[in-house]
Amino acid sequence: MSSHTDHSEARSDAPDEHLPEGRGSGAVSAADDPFADPGLPPHEHRRQDIDERAAKRSERTVALLFTLSMLATVGFIVSYVAIPIDEIVYIWPFGHVSGLNFALGLTLGAALFCIGAGVIHWARTLMSDVEVAEERHGVEAKPEVKAFVLEEFAKGAEESQLGRRKLIRGTLFGALALVPLSGVVLLRDLGPLPGNKLRVSAWEEGSLIINESTMQPLRPEDITVGSLTQAMPEGLDPHSPDFNTEIAKAAVMLVRLEPEDIKDERSADWGHEGILCFSKICTHIGCPATLYEQQTHHALCPCHQSTFDLSDGARVLFGPAGHPLPQLRITVNDEGFLQALGDFEEPPGPSFWERG
Ligand code: FES
Repeated sequence: MSSHTDHSEARSDAPDEHLPEGRGSGAVSAADDPFADPGLPPHEHRRQDIDERAAKRSERTVALLFTLSMLATVGFIVSYVAIPIDEIVYIWPFGHVSGLNFALGLTLGAALFCIGAGVIHWARTLMSDVEVAEERHGVEAKPEVKAFVLEEFAKGAEESQLGRRKLIRGTLFGALALVPLSGVVLLRDLGPLPGNKLRVSAWEEGSLIINESTMQPLRPEDITVGSLTQAMPEGLDPHSPDFNTEIAKAAVMLVRLEPEDIKDERSADWGHEGILCFSKICTHIGCPATLYEQQTHHALCPCHQSTFDLSDGARVLFGPAGHPLPQLRITVNDEGFLQALGDFEEPPGPSFWERG
């Protein structure tokens, strides 16, 4: 008997127990009512419904897609670990792109696509395709309706063949279990811990103090009373990739006060002939606190108006800053240039984290 004949016979056997009364035959009562519900078309069996070998083929196809999803997820994790973040590759037709981003997108997309394609193929070829017209019910289901729903659910579970198709079940659970790992490995980006990077700056003993505008080492005579000079340590290259990171910790400002105007004894000792050198990075959230008022010796941060008294160890007079600006100990070397006596004793910059 040909498959065509099988198919026709199967079509005549189409179950109609789920169809509403008076429907399922395809009969249209258009003569009586032009708006009559045409009902559901006759159910046609699929090849997989009548041929177990075709059903097995579909099962293997679905399992293959779920397995490909698992491999793609593994590929995602391997790419994340193995491909350097700055690797640039040429991919036609996109041109030069980040190799890591491309690999992550490709593998994660493939993993999700294969799960979706597998589920769709499974539903289209193996799950029951009998169309069911559901009558409207009241908002609150009656007990017999609930029992009916539970019975239908159990029947649907049976018809999906999830229990019987162990290969599909195993590979589906494997694919769904592996996909979340893609998100878990991304947690690695929360690290590494900063260590003591926030506590140390580019200043060290003997660093010359360089004028930020002229890029020349400063001498005491360059700093006049009433002026504010912005500076940085020698050796910082403005063109190097980590310049911004380093200058964010090492930027300083120098002021010169009459020695008798300096209220804090330690601050005076850490300066040189009234020249004081403070971090210019506001201890609130890091703006440059360089608006200098020469009569009062106050340095104002323009962001949230924190005010520091440079004549009193850069004590906070006003505003949200939690700590004084750290002071750098300075001296003059044998050639007459200003230089640091070491790094800051407190970490410069925002004080939102605890200082140990
Ligand atoms: S950053 Fe300076 S007051 Fe907020």
